Amino acid sequence: MPRKIIIDTDPGQDDAVAILLALASREELDVLGIVAVAGNVGLHHNANNALKIVELSGRVEVPVYAGCSRPLRRHLVTAEHVHGDTGLNGPDLPEPAKKLEAQHGVDYLIDTLMAAESKTITLCTLGPLTNIAMALIKQPAIADRIAEIVMMGGAYFEVGNITPAAEFNIYVDPEAADVVLRCGAPITVLPLDVTHQIQSTPPRLDAIKALGNKTGAAVHAMLTFSETFDLEKYGWDGAPLHDPTVIAYLLKPELFEGRHCNVAIETASELTVGMTVVDYWHVTGRVRNANYLRNGNAEGFFKLLTERLARLP
Ligand code: BDR
Ligand code: CA
Repeated sequence: MPRKIIIDTDPGQDDAVAILLALASREELDVLGIVAVAGNVGLHHNANNALKIVELSGRVEVPVYAGCSRPLRRHLVTAEHVHGDTGLNGPDLPEPAKKLEAQHGVDYLIDTLMAAESKTITLCTLGPLTNIAMALIKQPAIADRIAEIVMMGGAYFEVGNITPAAEFNIYVDPEAADVVLRCGAPITVLPLDVTHQIQSTPPRLDAIKALGNKTGAAVHAMLTFSETFDLEKYGWDGAPLHDPTVIAYLLKPELFEGRHCNVAIETASELTVGMTVVDYWHVTGRVRNANYLRNGNAEGFFKLLTERLARLP
C-alpha cells in the first residue's frame, strides 16, 4: 500500500522538483493533496505554480489548495532574489487550466486528518510551517493523528542561509516552526546540513535534461535559474537542492543518517531569530522531539531523482 502524504509547499523551483518526484512515485506514495503557503514568493504565485507543476506531471487529479498568505505574527519575507519574480522562473510553463480547490488549505488539512484512520497520513513540508501550525492551533486533536511530519527546514552545522543564524523556511515563520516542533507528532528534519551535500552539479543536471522528456527539460531550466544565486554565494560546483530530499527520504531513508534529539527554535532574539537549536550531542535533558538528519548520499539521491523523473511526460 502506498504511503499517504500531503505536501505543504511554497513552489519554488526546488519545491517543484520535490512535487514531481512524489508524483512520479505512485508505487510508494499516494499524494492526497498539495497545499500552498506563502514563502518563496506570495501565496498567489506559489499556488499557481503548484497547479502548473501538477499539470506538467500529468497528474491533474491531485487537488491543490491555497493556505495562509502570511506568517502567524510577522510580515512575510520572500526570496525573489533566488526564485525570480514568479517563484518559478526558468522554464516556460503554460498558465494552468486546472483551478484551486475552494476550501482553505488549513481546513483541508484538518478535515483530511480527522476523517482518515489515525496515523495514516504523513505531512511533507517544504516551506514555512504556517499552515501546519494554524491547523494545530485550530484543531489540536490532529497532532495525535499525524503519522509523521517530514520537513525541509533548519540547519545546525551549516547554520543559516537567509541570516547568519537562520534557514529560510524557519526564519519566515519561527513561531509556526516552534508550534510544530512542540506538537508531539513524530518529526523528521531535512536541514541545510543535508541539503548542502546534495549539489546539482552540471553533470547531474545534464543527465536530467538528457532524459528527453518535457519534465526533464523543465527541471533543467528551473534549477539552472535558481542555482545562479547559490553558485555565486558558495562557489561550489553545484547548488544545494533542498526540498526533494524530503520525498527522497520517504522513498529511500537509507540515503540519509542522523539521530533523535531535541530541536528548538529561537523566537525572541533579534540577532538569531529563526535559529534551529539542535541538541545533537545530547547535552541537555530536553525531550528528543525530532529525527534530525545530518548526512545525505548525493549520488544515490540523484540516481533516484533521475530515474523517477524519466517516468513523467
Ligand atoms: C528552503 O528555502 C526555500 O527557498 C527553498 O524552497 C527551501 O524550501 C531552503 O532554505
Ligand atoms: Ca520550499
